[in-house]
Amino acid sequence: MTTSLTAWCQSEIDNLKATGTFKLERVLSTPTGARVVVDGREVLMLTSNNYLGFANHPRIVEAAKKALDRWGNGLGSVRFICGTQELHKELEAEIAKFFGKDDAILYMSCWNANEGLFQPLLAEEDALLTDGLNHASIIDGVRLCKAKRYITPHNDLAGVEKSLQEAQAQRRRLLITDGVFSMEGEIGPLVELADLCEKYDTTLVVDDSHATGVLGATGRGTAEDLGCLERVPVFTGTLGKAMGSAAGGFTVGPKAMVELLRQRSRTTLFSNTLPPAVAGASLEAFRMLVEDPAPVKKLQANAVYFRTKMKTAGFTIPEGHHPICPVIVGDTAKALAMSAALFQRGVYVSGFGFPVVPQGHARLRCQISAVHTESDLDEAVAAFVHVGRDFGVV
Ligand SMILES: Cc1ncc(COP(=O)(O)O)c(C=O)c1O
Repeated sequence: MTTSLTAWCQSEIDNLKATGTFKLERVLSTPTGARVVVDGREVLMLTSNNYLGFANHPRIVEAAKKALDRWGNGLGSVRFICGTQELHKELEAEIAKFFGKDDAILYMSCWNANEGLFQPLLAEEDALLTDGLNHASIIDGVRLCKAKRYITPHNDLAGVEKSLQEAQAQRRRLLITDGVFSMEGEIGPLVELADLCEKYDTTLVVDDSHATGVLGATGRGTAEDLGCLERVPVFTGTLGKAMGSAAGGFTVGPKAMVELLRQRSRTTLFSNTLPPAVAGASLEAFRMLVEDPAPVKKLQANAVYFRTKMKTAGFTIPEGHHPICPVIVGDTAKALAMSAALFQRGVYVSGFGFPVVPQGHARLRCQISAVHTESDLDEAVAAFVHVGRDFGVV
């Protein structure tokens, strides 16, 4: 049995390699930043969620060290047994204050926050609406919940309204959407969704993993960008991207909901506490952002600068202003080959193809950071132009 399963694994791997869809795991020998050393080569980093450059910021590293010294390496436990320190409560309070909500609960990741959200809140009599392109962690969380499911076509507001009308027969309703769809850098229609949720008595939840610290004048995310922060009652998010780049996630919202999650959410009840060093670093990240939103402004200016230059150079870039800037090239094998060619030219950027994105829409997904200089971005555009010409993309 073991032999046949292993043989099957090998045949699947061979298949991925033959179709050009095998994912390379490159190894860094430096911390992450604007430039990194990967497989022995110094390259420009254009494929990280280190949006604010906090991953290796001296204040963040210092905060992690201090937390390690003060609070130790870990709790050897889950939160509700003996795993909650003052530091965790402080971080939860800081997150709640940042979003202007009552309370927050920490998880080891946003994956865990999403996976542990629906099942404790909704039962068979309830309805759960989810956008067809929502993140994989939401999809898995939805699978674990017994509520009636409505998977609505991506950003189809008429479809959402129809589902909400049908769902009036259910006891309670919850609608979840990504704030930013990560393959596109596309912003969800939160104002319209808030209108619909208010009209049909439905709780709106936004996973803002790619927007916290990224969008809005003060980095409060997609809803701040769209001017509807108070109309979104619940957010989930990650501490593993802009806000320290290590790990951790959270759900933030009304007191009673967060309290019930502490009682019943399985991904916190049965999984260890966030390590103190990570909690300390993330707490510092929120404090830095509140103190001075300048890195958010720099990030946003960099994103516009890069997007404009790439469009002027003739690349196909979907409309938008998010620092995720997809460069559409069509074929999956071409996207992966261009990624390899760009690496040879000193630019580290990932290629994504089917089934992660629709057939024929393979892309190089550039991610811009506040730590990039304009000259870094000019260098990246120049490399893209070279490689784009070689592959007949521009
Ligand atoms: C929209 C969204 N939600 C959740 C996650 C998972 O976050 P974490 O890495 O904290 O598990 C991601 C990460 O890619 C994401 O993009």
